Amino acid sequence: MSDQKVYRLRLGTPENAAPVRLFGAGEAAPFNEGAASLPFSRREVQSRAAARGFVVELPMRNDEDIYGFGLQFHSLNHAGRRRFLKVNSDPVCDTGETHAPVPFYVSTAGYGLFVDTFRCATFYLGTNGERGSSKETAEPEQERKEFSEEALYALKRARNKRSVIIEIPHCAGVDLYFFEGPRLLDAVSRYNRFSGGGCLPPRWALGAWYRMYGGADQEAVLRLAEQFRRDKMPFDVIGLEPGWHSHRYSCSFTWDAALFPRPDELVERLKAQGYAVNLWEHAFVHPSSPLYETLEKHSGNYEVWGGLVPDLADSAARERFAAYHARAFVDAGVAGFKLDECDSSDFNPSNWSFPDCASFPSGLDGEQMHSAFGLLYQKTIEAAFAARGARTFGLARSSWALASPSPFALYSDLYEHRQFVRALVNAGFCGLLWAPEVRSCVSSEDFIRRLQTAVFSPLTLLNCWRIPNPPWFQTDTADNLAGIRMADSDTVTRITRQYLELRAALVPYLSAAFQRYHDEGVPPMRALALDYQEDERARAIDDEYLFGPDLLAAPVFAGEAGREVYLPQGEWRDFWTGAPVEGGRSFFVTAPLDRIPVYVKNESTVSKCFDFKRFWGYTICI
Ligand code: GAL
Repeated sequence: MSDQKVYRLRLGTPENAAPVRLFGAGEAAPFNEGAASLPFSRREVQSRAAARGFVVELPMRNDEDIYGFGLQFHSLNHAGRRRFLKVNSDPVCDTGETHAPVPFYVSTAGYGLFVDTFRCATFYLGTNGERGSSKETAEPEQERKEFSEEALYALKRARNKRSVIIEIPHCAGVDLYFFEGPRLLDAVSRYNRFSGGGCLPPRWALGAWYRMYGGADQEAVLRLAEQFRRDKMPFDVIGLEPGWHSHRYSCSFTWDAALFPRPDELVERLKAQGYAVNLWEHAFVHPSSPLYETLEKHSGNYEVWGGLVPDLADSAARERFAAYHARAFVDAGVAGFKLDECDSSDFNPSNWSFPDCASFPSGLDGEQMHSAFGLLYQKTIEAAFAARGARTFGLARSSWALASPSPFALYSDLYEHRQFVRALVNAGFCGLLWAPEVRSCVSSEDFIRRLQTAVFSPLTLLNCWRIPNPPWFQTDTADNLAGIRMADSDTVTRITRQYLELRAALVPYLSAAFQRYHDEGVPPMRALALDYQEDERARAIDDEYLFGPDLLAAPVFAGEAGREVYLPQGEWRDFWTGAPVEGGRSFFVTAPLDRIPVYVKNESTVSKCFDFKRFWGYTICI
């Protein structure tokens, strides 16, 4: 048991509804005095019940860096910041709120901490000291005074005695799980193993995904799918958007007879062409749905879009929802689902979803259900496939802690390319997979730069739900709807095909990386901080990442002819030319439109799974 090097500390009286109890997890030894080689002792972890909830306090070193908290879009190192962990889609600024906040972080002090709660906890990461704590602290001599706000705040932070303060509202206790380091990667891997090990996507899920126009009917879907095969666009997954439901918001979970008169035939024909079929839905059940009656007593006391909110923490609701999906869709050959709208948003004007004061038969309140809903939904759909002995892989717009084994990637309606890359970097700290999908684009260049990131990401997705023609035909939405082909369509088509072929060629390499995720908990895509922890510059990088063990990707953004790349110490090679590149420095690299800067760390391991020599006729690396 102690081999796991995971330690549980029970403080006060924890709530019944908590992630470990609901989702299951690995074993943990008790965190007694001296039991763990953590950077602090049991005595130094303090807690108290307060009117606002339960408060935990731990020591924090002055030089400590902190990473994690789930799918963060706005920052990488959270030391010196306050994180408020509320499920909130499309977060507009750096508060900690996101589609998939996770109450887990790793620290360069040599440990990871998971707070087992569905409450919207607030973490103060070295932002505050108790009264009197700065009394003895000497003011350091400053040679040159710099009077910017930034400099003064930074100085203040570095001087003060720091601690991590965690406020967990509406409860009288909590279980903490500590994960030993000493390295960040050790703690992250232990967390993933504790969660059940990383997911293993089926091979088709590692290829390229295309989501069809929302207004497409059965014939239009088949036409485009056939055209992809003729045009040698190697897509593996075809996704249908809301139009397939007879009622969309809320969902009927039955086919629209006018647009899709012969759904079984559609799925069969797509499968015969080598596509896996994915269906869009959300969990809110419309009165016209065959699921409505059976779920009525197993749902919350508020509606969303006129539909039931199934209580997915109640096993009866989960089983009914899953059994229906198995019968209606898995048996018909559907390979997976896109689980939309399972977050909620204070930032979006159409503030949907149930209130925090909602109650559910399982005993969860609305606040807890908001946190749990995305992952419960994923588990329910996974169970529909498991009931038929089948595997799945899908998309979800919300998640929580202990999600590592769940076969879903996250996506968002946010769209800033740099934020997408930062989310990719951050997701790897907490057992999440992120799909930086390609959607509408302001130009061909923007499309190609986003496609390059998508190809070097956990899931390559073109979400064309708003355009009837492929984006390589026309990126502008209005012109696409009008059927007008853009002038540089031939070039864009060629580059798109090359990148989709590249993704297909990378699948064996990716499969090996996911196998390691599953067996050892090592995230397949991750921040440089995890592999180069001692390198202070690498630790701060939020726009480069490791794609599998041996490739470093450095995406380029529209409007830029190249970028500054930092390579950690060591011998690297340019992915495209094979030229040696020395690490331990940063340099500017120009990036023609058909090149995303990628560097190979260890060519012999990559070569086992990827044929550099053959691919595109380039002689690369060997
Ligand atoms: C959004 C989702 C989009 C698309 C759309 C269809 O919520 O993020 O990807 O599916 O719904 O209504």
